[in-house]
Parts: sequence; C-alpha cells; structure tokens
Amino acid sequence: MRALYCAASLLGVLTVLVWASSPAGAWSDDEAPSAKEIMTKVHKGPRALFNTVKAQLKGNSPDWPKLELATGDIAKLGSSLPKANPARGNRESFEKLAKAYASNTKALHEAAENQDLAKARQATAKLGGSCAACHKAHRKS
Ligand code: HEC
Repeated sequence: MRALYCAASLLGVLTVLVWASSPAGAWSDDEAPSAKEIMTKVHKGPRALFNTVKAQLKGNSPDWPKLELATGDIAKLGSSLPKANPARGNRESFEKLAKAYASNTKALHEAAENQDLAKARQATAKLGGSCAACHKAHRKS
C-alpha cells in the first residue's frame, strides 16, 4: 500500500513539472516581452528600430536588406504587443489599439519585403500617427 502512495505522489509531482515546463503552460506569459520592452526596442532613442526605418525612408534609395531586417524585428515585436499588459487603463481598449499596431507593423514589413517604397512610407506614417491615442489611455502619465 505504501508503495502505491509513493507512486501516486511521484506521478503528481511529475505532472506538475511537465505542466509548468510546457510551452503553452504557465511560463509563456513571462517569456513574452512587456509593453515597455517592445516600446524601448522599437521606439526609444535615435538608434531604435523604427527610427532606423524612418531614416532609411527619407531618401529614394533605401538600403533594402537593412530596412527589411529592422521591419522584421518591428513586426515580430509588434505581434507581441496585444499579449502585453498596458501600464494603465482598460485591457480591452489596449488590446484593440495594440492589434492595430501589430497589423501596421506587419504591413510595414511586407512593404519592405516587396521593396515597395510608397507602401512602406504609408505604413510608417500610419504607425507614426498611432502613438498618441494609445499613450494617452495606456502609458503611465
Ligand atoms: C497600442 C498601444 C501603443 C502604441 C500604438 C504605441 N505605444 Fe508607446 N507605449 C505604450 C505603453 C503601454 C507604454 C508604457 C510601457 C510601460 O512603461 O510599461 C509605452 C511607452 C513608450 C515609450 C517609453 C519607453 C520607456 O522608456 O519606458 C516610448 C519611447 C514609446 N512608447 C514610443 C512610441 C512611439 C514613438 C509610438 C508610435 C510610433 C508608440 N510608442 C506607439 C503603448 C503604445
């Protein structure tokens, strides 16, 4: 009987371990970047990804591989924003704005992949016009 108890509790421990370490388990939220991390990488400072993109798009012959590298990182980070938590405000509202941000970053990357200057500029302008509404509601004042 004792052996049976032992086996049962061991199984319990194993189940918890497997659950905790599975990618869809409790850890996935911790691994996703926070809104602050995303914003810092994409937007903070002159060397941030989005500022690299804007600098490249100023002229009429951007360095496409360089541009595509930056927009790829932006799109990847952008796709994580809806899963992040806002510093302030209502989650539903944030998620809606963050999804729009994600789709703008995707459009930007697609334009860069297609070396479409007009579309890349359009997506950049759209993204650039979206900051204030989200910050007003969801960034710490
Ligand atoms: C969908 C919402 C959303 C959009 C759109 C958005 N941001 Fe943010 N941003 C945030 C939130 C939330 C924070 C606060 C993060 C924190 O401190 O937890 C933030 C913080 C920042 C920060 C401060 C990072 C730091 O040092 O802490 C910068 C810089 C920034 N955003 C730039 C931008 C720019 C530029 C744009 C537009 C091109 C933009 N953001 C668009 C939500 C957004």
